[in-house]
Amino acid sequence: PTALTGRHFLKELDFTAEEFRGLLALAAELKAAKRARTETRYLTGRNIALIFEKTSTRTRCAFEVAAADQGAHTTYLDPSGSQIGHKESVKDTARVLGRMYDAIEYRGHGQGVVEELAAHAGVPVYNGLTDEWHPTQMLADLLTMTEHSDKPLEDIAFAYLGDARYNMGNSYLVTGALLGMDVRIVAPKLLWPDETIVALARRLADASGARVTLTEDVKEGVRGADFVATDVWVSMGEPQQVWDERIGLLGPYAVTMDVLRATGNPDVRFLHCLPAFHDLGTKVGREIHERYGLTELEVSDEVFESEHSVVFDEAENRMHTIKAVLVATLAAPEGDTSQTLA
Ligand code: CP
Ligand code: NVA
Repeated sequence: PTALTGRHFLKELDFTAEEFRGLLALAAELKAAKRARTETRYLTGRNIALIFEKTSTRTRCAFEVAAADQGAHTTYLDPSGSQIGHKESVKDTARVLGRMYDAIEYRGHGQGVVEELAAHAGVPVYNGLTDEWHPTQMLADLLTMTEHSDKPLEDIAFAYLGDARYNMGNSYLVTGALLGMDVRIVAPKLLWPDETIVALARRLADASGARVTLTEDVKEGVRGADFVATDVWVSMGEPQQVWDERIGLLGPYAVTMDVLRATGNPDVRFLHCLPAFHDLGTKVGREIHERYGLTELEVSDEVFESEHSVVFDEAENRMHTIKAVLVATLAAPEGDTSQTLA
């Protein structure tokens, strides 16, 4: 499974639609093998650096477990635990880590940083989330969609409601367009993806046969959707002041049971990359409640806890899909160093 040997994964469009589908198929195979306890270790002895300039639960754990399952080691560099960007340039960091590690994961702010790492590391670099893109999340979401739908990917319709000017909105738009899906961005115009990204999606759609819709109208946007997705209204790294504006703008785009009913699809499924604000169980939740009197934001607790919700399948699939990326980009040619677990 080495079709992508040595490749970076900095944004969705680093892979063709065919390569993207290949990764999904590999992830499904690896998932089945893990469940059957027949997983083959393709990465014995490899070392992977995990740089996190923003916090994480899923992405970090997914990389660590995926690597361990495959026989590779990881080093976690936390938001304060390395010299990167403070005392040492990104370029120097890339050249140092590239001498010690077989691959580097990076989560941080600007896409430019992960691009610069990749330009100088000499080993594959993976984007574990930037302000602009969240490509490994897209693999998990699409694997989850294929598991919860009888349709082939190109027949699936999904609607993303919420802040679409950030990583998740951008990534959904471009990934749906790349793969020929029916993708709807449902948000106030102020929070639509940047025009260059919309234009890119439209060009991709011309080639793939995708349907790309951007609308402010929730009912129109979700009609007939197989999946409804959302994300937090304020992302990591954004200033706290934007809460006031976001709550005002995005209130009508919260995913409630009414929104799911408006799809007209009784089997509609709900996706959220997580973490989600749907109750008062967190510190941020209590702060929001104190300030705005709200107990739910982007998704109601009712939807989150309903049978429509597949968010924990989606979270688990982070691990299987990230494992597919590691295996596809790092495994030695078939029959070389792999060993099957008894
Ligand atoms: N979905 C996601 O990326 O979660 P973490 O921030 O916990 O990694
Ligand atoms: N848009 C969110 C996604 C978290 C996984 C953020 O960037 O914080």
